[in-house]
Amino acid sequence: MAIEFSERIRRIPVYPAAGGYAKQEELTLLASNESPFPPLPAVREAIERAMGSLNRYPDPSNSRLRTALSERYEVPRERIAIGNGSCDILLAAGEALLEPGAELVHAWPSFSVYPHLTAASGARAVMVPLDEDQRHDLPAMLAEITAATRLVIVCNPNNPTSTALPPAEIAAFIAEVPPHVCVILDEAYCEFNLLDDPDASIELLDSHPNLVLLRTFSKVHGLCGLRVGFALCGSEDFPRAVDQVRQPFFCNALAQAAAVESLAHQDAVIDRVTRTVAERSSMDERLRALGLTPADSHANFCWFSLGEERDEAHVMGVLAEHGVLVRGGSALGSPVPALRVTYGLPEENMRFLDALAVALEPTV
Ligand SMILES: Cc1ncc(COP(=O)(O)O)c(C=O)c1O
Repeated sequence: MAIEFSERIRRIPVYPAAGGYAKQEELTLLASNESPFPPLPAVREAIERAMGSLNRYPDPSNSRLRTALSERYEVPRERIAIGNGSCDILLAAGEALLEPGAELVHAWPSFSVYPHLTAASGARAVMVPLDEDQRHDLPAMLAEITAATRLVIVCNPNNPTSTALPPAEIAAFIAEVPPHVCVILDEAYCEFNLLDDPDASIELLDSHPNLVLLRTFSKVHGLCGLRVGFALCGSEDFPRAVDQVRQPFFCNALAQAAAVESLAHQDAVIDRVTRTVAERSSMDERLRALGLTPADSHANFCWFSLGEERDEAHVMGVLAEHGVLVRGGSALGSPVPALRVTYGLPEENMRFLDALAVALEPTV
């Protein structure tokens, strides 16, 4: 007889893994919105130094990292939550805020982890379709807020569609949300949005105690292998609540040391953003030359429909035969065949584009 798991386990969707990790060195990995750049030399040295103390538990208060973040973003230390990746904070928020009878409002398609929060808690998911430009439909989201709503998540720029909303629209939206409803603005990719100041949302924190800005070291800092994320919050309540539902040592010592060091190298981080944005422009042009219409990307990845008549699995299969892994839209909630492709190094992007040209050839 097989083990009988809880109803909760039957509800929770399995995270769609990119796969293919066994032969990673031969593959072009453009499926997980990772940074193509390895950690900075100074960050590697900081990790090396921290290794000498691995016989000790990590600092449970994340003191150095909290101070460094507080100085960088001018948010009091007590209003910062740290996590084992920002996903850890998201899942803890679900546990702290949701329960049967409560509601979570979020857009769809959006980050594939959001449905876990309702599945795990038994709360109701209210998934609001994106507008025709693949952006969050904020008025429609506002209309879905009821007395049962505990949490609203806005992903800006949105994963998987790469689109962004301007700070003024976000500010107007937050002003309309009742103050007892927590708003998480998931800004995992905000540094890649060159249209707006990525820190504009921080100004909203002082006037909105219910606001939480979710950030990560996984994307622009290129440290996803270490797992470290953080949240800048409008009040001390949110960091306290997410700490209550987690194990004490949720952020490992190497991650803490690497994150502190990375924050001290803002110029190198900006240089990497510039290189990624250059790839974004050139990929956009080349995709259009192939007859595709990518969404207006403000992130480190692009999103485009393959057209109703194309077979997404066939295109993914041809790309995989060429050693290129991308993410298929159907696994991410797209109603039409689509792809999400992370921008890699120039040669990786060329490999992808060459393979895509083959994959799009009509099959006979
Ligand atoms: C929108 C969004 N939020 C959060 C995360 C989680 O990142 P991490 O847990 O690595 O910080 C991701 C990762 O892909 C993401 O796309």
